[in-house]
Amino acid sequence: MQTMLSGEASSSSLKELMLLCETARECRQCQLAETRKNFVFGEGNAQAELLVIGEAPGAEEDASGRPFVGRSGQLLDKILQAAGFCRQEVYICNILKCRPPGNRNPLQGEIESCMPWLLGQLQIVKPKVILILGKVAANTLFDNKLPLGAMRGKVTRWKEFDCFITYHPAALLRNPEWKKGCWEDIQLMMGHYKKLCGTKSATEHEH
Ligand code: URA
Repeated sequence: MQTMLSGEASSSSLKELMLLCETARECRQCQLAETRKNFVFGEGNAQAELLVIGEAPGAEEDASGRPFVGRSGQLLDKILQAAGFCRQEVYICNILKCRPPGNRNPLQGEIESCMPWLLGQLQIVKPKVILILGKVAANTLFDNKLPLGAMRGKVTRWKEFDCFITYHPAALLRNPEWKKGCWEDIQLMMGHYKKLCGTKSATEHEH
């Protein structure tokens, strides 16, 4: 688990995340434990104000044990940079912590087995804003079957969190014409973020 150390204030959250990760990485609650190379817990700032949730690790993430490090991850980094964040400043994780073979969609049983780890991460990091990447992740968290178009373009309150939904970076790689819509989603999210957290500038935060 890679984390950002930013002074004493975050050390307790960091320890809690590390403890949770130690327990979680032994998880054998579903069949993905049989095929995974690595458990992909998540990484970033243990006290991030912005937390990003993807769907599940792909091949590169499975190989490295880190979320969003493949082509989708490189695009996510660019999106975050355009919004004024560096990767280490936010917390990045997925709904599933293990790769589904062939990158198939998560199964209901896998989601249910894995959800306590995500909820634990949210309780520790306590982000002000959550960015959800893609329809599958949003449908899973909100327990609906809505198309992405019906979930984008607004803030959605889920548990105690303000969530914004946009295209998954893998979908943007396949459909570059959707990037404009993604940028609109990010700008909307940043407007909300600035109201809640103050002016955003990557250099304002300790690294
Ligand atoms: N896609 C995801 O949803 N998560 C990753 O970590 C990588 C690709």
